[in-house]
Amino acid sequence: PVEVQGEPGNEALQDPPQDASEHAEDRQGGARRNFFWELTAVLAGAIVSVVPMLVGLYTFLLTPFRKKQLPLNYETGTGEGAGANEYFVAPLDAIPVDGMPRRFEIVADRVDGWNFIPHRPIGAIFLSRQQDDGTSPQVVAFHATCPHAGCTVAFSVDSDAFLCPCHNSSFSKDGEKMDLAGRSNPSPRGLDKLQVNQEKLASDGEVWVEYVNYYTGRKEMKPKA
Ligand code: FES
Repeated sequence: PVEVQGEPGNEALQDPPQDASEHAEDRQGGARRNFFWELTAVLAGAIVSVVPMLVGLYTFLLTPFRKKQLPLNYETGTGEGAGANEYFVAPLDAIPVDGMPRRFEIVADRVDGWNFIPHRPIGAIFLSRQQDDGTSPQVVAFHATCPHAGCTVAFSVDSDAFLCPCHNSSFSKDGEKMDLAGRSNPSPRGLDKLQVNQEKLASDGEVWVEYVNYYTGRKEMKPKA
């Protein structure tokens, strides 16, 4: 066989050297890997910088609409047929007809700045139910805050009275100031009685209470703004 070398036009007939083709494949593989890593870096950068911006924009733009969609009682404490600052506390059937005060939490959904906080306890009251008078259920509500300096009272079955643990004030089941033996009573007034919505009580069998916080340390009940 005649070996033809160096003649123009015969290059296509020759096989490329094996190490040269491997080198070319390595370069192509390296280029693909570089492209892959660059693409990954670009995507990661986009996620880190763009996603928080979109979330912030979404929150900023939609919060006013979300607030409008909330039922009224979520924002103002009112519900259909209920007055301002009235909160649903319990079904009437949940309160035994024995005149014994029982503690209930006032729970409400709140919008605080950008945050929606569902089912948040905002205070406590005592409810007691007497025998119905034949016309409507008899439910009485008292604020659980001691009017002296704001501690929370508890009802003592043994003493048959509300007792404050801070400075020994005591109150009867009717919320009146009383002097238990061995206890002084620095409270300037009786427990703060809260308004129960009689209409909701009679028609829906639900206890709705106008929950108002009053200033402590005063003889008169002055609502806080
Ligand atoms: S806070 Fe209740 S007695 Fe002082």
